[in-house]
Amino acid sequence: MRPFVLSTVAGLLCTVTSLSTVQGTASLLELDAPYLSNNSLYFPQNAGAWQNPNSTAPARISEHENPFPMAECYGVALEEATIDQMQGWMAGGKLTSRQLVQCYLGRILQLNEYVNAIQEINPDVFMIADQLDAERANGTVRGPLHGIPVVVKDNMATKDKMETTAGSYALLGSIVPRDAHIVKLLREKGAVLLGKATLDEWASMRTNSKSSGYSARGGQSRNAYNLSTAPGGSSSGSCQAVASNMIPISFGTETDGSVIGPARRASLVGFKPTVGLTSRAGVIPESVHQDTVGSFGRTFKDAIYALEGIVGVDPRDNYTSAQQGPKDGNYTQFLATKDALKGAKFGLPWLSLWNQTGNKADVPQLLKVVDQLKAAGATIINGTEFPHYKDVISPRGWDWTVGPSPLLTAGYRVNVDFYNNIRDYLSELNNTNLRGVEDLIAYNIEYTGIEGGIPGTVAGFRSGQDGFMESLETKGEMNSSYYECLAYLDRVSRTEGIDAALSYTYPNGTEIKLDALLVPSGSGSTNLPATAGYPMVTMPIGVNAHSVPVGIALIGTAWSEATLIRYGSAIDDLVQGRKKPQFIEWWSKLVPVDYSV
Ligand SMILES: *[C@@H]1O[C@H](CO)[C@@H](O)[C@H](O)[C@H]1NC(C)=O
Ligand SMILES: *[C@@H]1O[C@H](CO)[C@@H](O)[C@H](O)[C@H]1NC(C)=O
Ligand SMILES: *[C@@H]1O[C@H](CO)[C@@H](O)[C@H](O)[C@H]1NC(C)=O
Ligand SMILES: *[C@@H]1O[C@H](CO)[C@@H](O)[C@H](O)[C@H]1NC(C)=O
Ligand SMILES: *[C@@H]1O[C@H](CO)[C@@H](O)[C@H](O)[C@H]1NC(C)=O
Ligand SMILES: *[C@@H]1O[C@H](CO)[C@@H](O)[C@H](O)[C@H]1NC(C)=O
Ligand SMILES: *[C@@H]1O[C@H](CO)[C@@H](O)[C@H](O)[C@H]1NC(C)=O
Ligand SMILES: *[C@@H]1O[C@H](CO)[C@@H](O)[C@H](O)[C@H]1NC(C)=O
Ligand SMILES: *[C@@H]1O[C@H](CO)[C@@H](O)[C@H](O)[C@H]1NC(C)=O
Ligand SMILES: *[C@@H]1O[C@H](CO)[C@@H](O)[C@H](O)[C@H]1NC(C)=O
Ligand SMILES: *[C@@H]1O[C@H](CO)[C@@H](O)[C@H](O)[C@H]1NC(C)=O
Repeated sequence: MRPFVLSTVAGLLCTVTSLSTVQGTASLLELDAPYLSNNSLYFPQNAGAWQNPNSTAPARISEHENPFPMAECYGVALEEATIDQMQGWMAGGKLTSRQLVQCYLGRILQLNEYVNAIQEINPDVFMIADQLDAERANGTVRGPLHGIPVVVKDNMATKDKMETTAGSYALLGSIVPRDAHIVKLLREKGAVLLGKATLDEWASMRTNSKSSGYSARGGQSRNAYNLSTAPGGSSSGSCQAVASNMIPISFGTETDGSVIGPARRASLVGFKPTVGLTSRAGVIPESVHQDTVGSFGRTFKDAIYALEGIVGVDPRDNYTSAQQGPKDGNYTQFLATKDALKGAKFGLPWLSLWNQTGNKADVPQLLKVVDQLKAAGATIINGTEFPHYKDVISPRGWDWTVGPSPLLTAGYRVNVDFYNNIRDYLSELNNTNLRGVEDLIAYNIEYTGIEGGIPGTVAGFRSGQDGFMESLETKGEMNSSYYECLAYLDRVSRTEGIDAALSYTYPNGTEIKLDALLVPSGSGSTNLPATAGYPMVTMPIGVNAHSVPVGIALIGTAWSEATLIRYGSAIDDLVQGRKKPQFIEWWSKLVPVDYSV
């Protein structure tokens, strides 16, 4: 018998009783008070004991035994397989794309009930795979993505039998005008769109205090490394699906941290390109200034194959007209091995990004990598800095409300942009009456039982929809404060921010150019590159004391993808820090998930 199970039962009964006694007299908010302060939902560790307190069954399997071994795929070991391997198998007649799809669907059936990374399966997936198999048999291979299954985040429009909802019931049934540009490119390059991934609802825009990885439609997506812990967001499912071998590669979006954060917590390479390298047309927006579509892979090369698949100029997103990169779109040519680290120069913005309370626990592990880099011949400059870091970066960690005044913050800009950008997105949809953030807010209140518009009514949305409310308050007004804010943010994040930190002056006056800034992937490291619209890439370096993956990242200037690929892949080759998930606490139904570890 496990006493805690009994006390959980008692706790639940007690909560229910107190709720029903106060009903009638209290307002909704008061009614939620006891619930709010205690809204964790636990699943008992010993499901048998829940029904039979006398059960002598072992509480659960060993912490260290993998409960979800991955099956072979038609005689091939698919677990952790790379795109090059899959192309080799398909070229050699060992596997077809249809068989790859079958094996990944089998893996999803085995695992998704627990990890919940896949939100929806494409009913056309076999038809697409068959067509690409026929093409291959006929002598045409479109490129490295031909026949490779992929998933996209549920905020990327697909003009097919699937929904595009950002995880919200509000958009269920809405009809999109066309594929998002990046989806169109993926189809053209022969990728097999297998489905859509779970995410933080509205890509985290709606709720400031919430359960990481939660959406009403998708439910709680979990971290496969330790299912009680946060997957990170908002591209939660995209990352966990790749991490647990439910798909080879996937795609996510970042406004501030939503590619780098969840990739780090999934032991993946996550590439967040310069804003404008990948079109945002057809992607449910947050901010035209900061949104960007990025890619995920278990290996550096796979993440870059995925990136290559989505780069391109698009008349529907004029930021793409400023693109700079290789003419032939070949980004894998920049991949390097650890030898490239000889003579490389990396700067550590120590005071702003390493000495944060949010990443103290991970720093010893990260510093071992710094030592490895030095041993491999890299020069490490400790103490290069963003001149205005005290004004724009919180010493505690991620925070986009930091600035000299509330109207000089990235958060203010995003709030104004969201109001306008979501209106434009909604204006192109059919079969919905929702036309702006006002409508979304009203919907979430009307259906608060599932969408949690009122704080405390849904465990995953603790603070309701305060993010939407802040955007509403601005009414999207692009007044002089807004334009001052734009100019300020560009200056302190670019010329007097990342670009300044990439130039280092020794005490003797000699100035050198650094190849990139080397930073922890977690905590507040994403704020400044997000504000600047500059690229960033994270590489896995192992797991922490609570089995959650840790990563190290590089930040560069605009359009420096080639440099980040060269040095990121070199670091990845040196460290080889990817770990497979062990599904610790695989039974967990905890909501909200634990973001403190
Ligand atoms: C949650 O509920 C249990 C049982 O009623 C109680 O013992 C515990 O203190 C509560 N926790 C919080 C944080 O309110
Ligand atoms: C558990 O064991 C006690 C003592 O033997 C017995 O009275 C009780 O009925 C049992 N409960 C169940 C659910 O089997
Ligand atoms: C195979 O190639 C031939 C000749 O190019 C073409 O006519 C035919 O449509 C192709 N079939 C498929 C299934 O791609
Ligand atoms: C929306 O409906 C209108 C009127 O029926 C039609 O002209 C338009 O093509 C539709 N657009 C989409 C995206 O389905
Ligand atoms: C995109 O269009 C806006 C508004 O017309 C303009 O301000 C901006 O400079 C353009 N961006 C690029 C990269 O051309
Ligand atoms: C990209 O460049 C690399 C290195 O030059 C080459 O091996 C590879 O085949 C190229 N990829 C494509 C799709 O042409
Ligand atoms: C680091 O941050 C702490 C506060 O969190 C501060 O006391 C300390 O002086 C900072 N500087 C360095 C170099 O560690
Ligand atoms: C970097 O410099 C700070 C002092 O500014 C120091 O506390 C820290 O340990 C140094 N880090 C490394 C990796 O040398
Ligand atoms: C601009 O609008 C914001 C609200 O979005 C408001 O707080 C601010 O005072 C306005 N600025 C001016 C100069 O009117
Ligand atoms: C300045 O110091 C750096 C680092 O110690 C050194 O590499 C460089 O040669 C020095 N420059 C001069 C002009 O002494
Ligand atoms: C799993 O995560 C929980 C936090 O919810 C943590 O307390 C525990 O130590 C972790 N388990 C392992 C084995 O790392």
